Amino acid sequence: MKDLRQNYTKGELVENQIADDPFAQFDQWFTDALNAEILEPNAMILSSVDNNKPDSRIVLLKDVRGGEFVFYTNYDSHKGQQLQNNPNCTLLFPWINLERQVIIRGHATKIPTNESEEYFLSRPKSSQIGAWASNQSKQIDSRITLENQLKETQEKFNNLPLTKPPHWGGFAVNPHEIEFWQGRPNRLHDRILYTLQNGVWVTSRLQP
Ligand SMILES: Cc1cc2nc3c(=O)[nH]c(=O)nc-3n(C[C@H](O)[C@H](O)[C@H](O)COP(=O)(O)O)c2cc1C
Repeated sequence: MKDLRQNYTKGELVENQIADDPFAQFDQWFTDALNAEILEPNAMILSSVDNNKPDSRIVLLKDVRGGEFVFYTNYDSHKGQQLQNNPNCTLLFPWINLERQVIIRGHATKIPTNESEEYFLSRPKSSQIGAWASNQSKQIDSRITLENQLKETQEKFNNLPLTKPPHWGGFAVNPHEIEFWQGRPNRLHDRILYTLQNGVWVTSRLQP
């Protein structure tokens, strides 16, 4: 590990080339991530707070709308409970192939039920059944029990149209800070931080 060392040379982030609005900048970098064909470009590390302890896991970004970043999960899961107790969270996109990361700091709130329903109904049936079959984050005694839960759910909903489970839905993260990081040679990386100040996004440069 000590000998693993990369020099970052793929790009730069300079003040006169960045967008005024962090959502436009995000959109541009997300398009770059799509074009680079990296695996799961919409995968992001969601960090939440469990009482005073940090907790993290990957979730998939499913929408950016109205200045908010939306993902879907089980509201009764660890993250679901944590975010309902303390909405402070971060989203981190580790686009390492592009020598980039984006960190979004904000507050998460549940999205309206009808919006979650609309997305749930657009998912493949296998994913819809999975949302009913698994009590995410709860202990289970074996893999077999989990597979039996799936079978029971499949039988229960056999030929019936599936509806969204009440415990499943989206969170929208409303950001107050978004940092764009571009790796540069000699560890002199570019870090541009957008901060929301009185309703206006202001940029500053951070030392690497
Ligand atoms: C690539 C990838 C994508 C994932 N996407 C989601 C997702 O969109 N929603 C979700 O609830 N879990 C997703 N997971 C699973 C979570 O990382 C996590 O294991 C699960 O949500 C339980 O987290 P919790 O116990 O902290 O609540 C994903 C995992 C990976 C590796």
